[in-house]
Amino acid sequence: MISQTRNPNQTRSAWSQYWELDGAHEQRAVGGPRYRATFEQFWRDQLEPEFASRSSLRVLDAACGDGAVTRHCAAIWQGHQDCTLDLHATDCSERALAAIDALSLPGGPSLVVADAKSLPYAQGAFDCVLSQCGLEYAGLAAFETAAGLVAPGGCLMALVHHDEGLIHQECGGHHDLLSAIADSAVFEHGKALFDLQRLGDSGEIAPEAVADAAAEVGRELAGLLAGLDAYPRDGARQHAERLLQDFSALCARHTAYAPDQACQWLEFHQGALMAFRLRMQSMLTAGQGEAEMGQLEAVLADAGLGQIETGILGAADTGQPLAWSLRACAA
Ligand SMILES: C[S@@+](CC[C@H](N)C(=O)[O-])C[C@H]1O[C@@H](n2cnc3c(N)ncnc32)[C@H](O)[C@@H]1O
Repeated sequence: MISQTRNPNQTRSAWSQYWELDGAHEQRAVGGPRYRATFEQFWRDQLEPEFASRSSLRVLDAACGDGAVTRHCAAIWQGHQDCTLDLHATDCSERALAAIDALSLPGGPSLVVADAKSLPYAQGAFDCVLSQCGLEYAGLAAFETAAGLVAPGGCLMALVHHDEGLIHQECGGHHDLLSAIADSAVFEHGKALFDLQRLGDSGEIAPEAVADAAAEVGRELAGLLAGLDAYPRDGARQHAERLLQDFSALCARHTAYAPDQACQWLEFHQGALMAFRLRMQSMLTAGQGEAEMGQLEAVLADAGLGQIETGILGAADTGQPLAWSLRACAA
């Protein structure tokens, strides 16, 4: 069964934090630009024939994020201006939709904040319902909902996280790296250091005791930094390195900082790290195996879709799985 992470609200909030990073989120994107061309070609192959064979096309990009697929769709449409495009995009994160809005895309997509399980569109409202690694975050019910939105003669087209694919493996590595820091007590020790500093400032303890505590946290941070060598030099590692280096500088120069401000800084960065890990966890949970894809196909068939085709989208160089591809159409 497709399952959701234990607390869907926390997961949605973790995604919103990610989209709030604006351009900086690209650095923390799994796969980065490496697989972009492969994904783009998939959508071109799916959408070109639709534009070429119709005089109008109603398209929904579900769980669209900052609009990777919405943008492909708008770009492909540029070559088919004789076809009228009615483009819609939806995601649970308002911030993600704001990023699309800011692009002023051709086709001017209508944007709606919604959970993919219950989308506010009429049954059969779209010729193409698209999802790139999106619907599975909201579980099987989201695929049932999406199937209901497909108009007669239209199709649901999706890329779905693969539980043994390259993206999944990368997420697993990120999750382990972030967990090594999140599961250590280093943030608590940092906050305890600044609690001690308050006592030092009021003369209740000797400055040497505060300095010893700072040195201890510094050693802990150095150990965590050394542990990062085991991981590839990617966005998660860069994020962690920068964080640990800044944290080390905070400890080394602890007397230069007001304890309240230092604790706020620690709280903020601990929260950001936890959100990054939760996002990785949600991607891992969203990964589907062969049996789960079979269940998904059954749900689509029950919802009235046919001609269901499931395949694997492989990396251009090695052919290793990136995602499941899925196409199912309404008679
Ligand atoms: C891996 S991202 C994919 C985004 C986009 N389709 C892309 O390919 O760049 C997953 C997206 O699902 C959204 N999401 C997570 N849970 C959701 C839910 N329950 N309902 C709607 N969107 C959700 C997140 O905000 C995020 O934008």
